Amino acid sequence: MKLALVCAFLCSSLLAPLECRAQEPAKPADEKPAADAKPAADAKTSSDAAKTNPVKPSPTSLSSGKKKYGQDCAMCHGKDGAGDGDLAEDMKLKLKDLRDAETLKDLSDGDIYSLINNGKGKMMGEEGRLKPDEIWDIVNFVRSLPKK
Ligand code: HEC
Repeated sequence: MKLALVCAFLCSSLLAPLECRAQEPAKPADEKPAADAKPAADAKTSSDAAKTNPVKPSPTSLSSGKKKYGQDCAMCHGKDGAGDGDLAEDMKLKLKDLRDAETLKDLSDGDIYSLINNGKGKMMGEEGRLKPDEIWDIVNFVRSLPKK
């Protein structure tokens, strides 16, 4: 009898805090900011592709794009876009000719921006190493290749 009482006492004192916790209002769902979650790469790629080019292909933009292209792209795509860069040869890449209007015909400026920023297949993306305007300069330069 005494034991049962002790047990009842112990149990209730042990359970009380549990019960109390259970009654705490549930935390609102929005306490964890959604911004914490990294957007899927796909989402980023498609949002980049939807961008419209805010940079006019001015001589300044083209010459900046040409310089960046020489630093970041020519090792694969070749100085003039022929696809004959040293790295492409080392990696045994078969690259399309960027001087051929056909190559870029189905790509919007946003698509090319997304390619440069996010990469595709064996082509690595710049991933924040270039400012958006610098990427648009390269887009403008690449667009100018077939016209040469
Ligand atoms: C490591 C070598 C490499 C580098 C560096 C590189 N690319 Fe590419 N690029 C590729 C490959 C490989 C593809 C084909 C990707 C695929 O379709 O899988 C490609 C595709 C492209 C395309 C689409 C046309 C096509 O061939 O399908 C464009 C436009 C392009 N690259 C531009 C650039 C620009 C601009 C840069 C510099 C910012 C750059 N690339 C840097 C390897 C490279």
